[in-house]
Amino acid sequence: MIASALWDEGTNGVAEVGDELLAGFESRDGADAAVRAHGGAVEAVDPTTWAQQETASVAIGGTEVTLEVGTAFGHGGHPTTALVLDTLATEAQRSPLMTVLDVGCGTGVLSLAAAVRGATAVVGVDIDPAAVAIAERNIGRNDLDPGLISFATTAIADIAERAARFDLVVANILLAEIRPLAPSIVACVGDRLILSGSLVEQRDELIRLFPTLAVVGESQADGWLCLILST
Ligand SMILES: C[S@@+](CC[C@H](N)C(=O)[O-])C[C@H]1O[C@@H](n2cnc3c(N)ncnc32)[C@H](O)[C@@H]1O
Repeated sequence: MIASALWDEGTNGVAEVGDELLAGFESRDGADAAVRAHGGAVEAVDPTTWAQQETASVAIGGTEVTLEVGTAFGHGGHPTTALVLDTLATEAQRSPLMTVLDVGCGTGVLSLAAAVRGATAVVGVDIDPAAVAIAERNIGRNDLDPGLISFATTAIADIAERAARFDLVVANILLAEIRPLAPSIVACVGDRLILSGSLVEQRDELIRLFPTLAVVGESQADGWLCLILST
């Protein structure tokens, strides 16, 4: 629960080391605010060291996926990510996963989960080059076919312009960030779109961004919403 609150408060990484919970912040102000809210102490560290030491693991079905998290978002435990991971599981049961596009891949957690769930090809994109580098390293950390997954900083608009369609598109991105991306995201959806990263009270606005798609499923956790939309 504290980890979830820390993500909402702007940490760029959380790690359990022994009995300690470590949280990284880019600014001293952010770290001080977290200590005021949760207790603990602030220590200045080399960000490279911090990035390398922070790893997480997520159970995907019977497979343990190991992630370097570092400065990227996506340790798997945030409610928005967990909602998509659960939805991916039910979608894979409904019909085999085929091609998947992960918009805002962060550590690549959702891309890796899609590959574990049997996707035939996965592309993950993020505007943060550091996240893409971490996601690429995370392929090698796991026993997955590297030819199955690719990560890039390619803009979603460029993918849409190439008329590339994916059977499933997943996007765990805040509403404010998804607004300008919505037309390009829709252009990439071949069949289904899983959306997370918006609050439950933002549901109507989120749905209005995708007028050509129909809501076919939804779930929520800790005030966060996850929608399944279909063409
Ligand atoms: C909430 S994190 C999700 C990370 C991971 N997919 C997960 O579910 O845990 C959102 C990610 O979207 C990325 N992002 C934000 N705006 C973006 C954009 N316009 N295009 C691509 N990625 C974007 C951020 O850099 C961040 O890594």
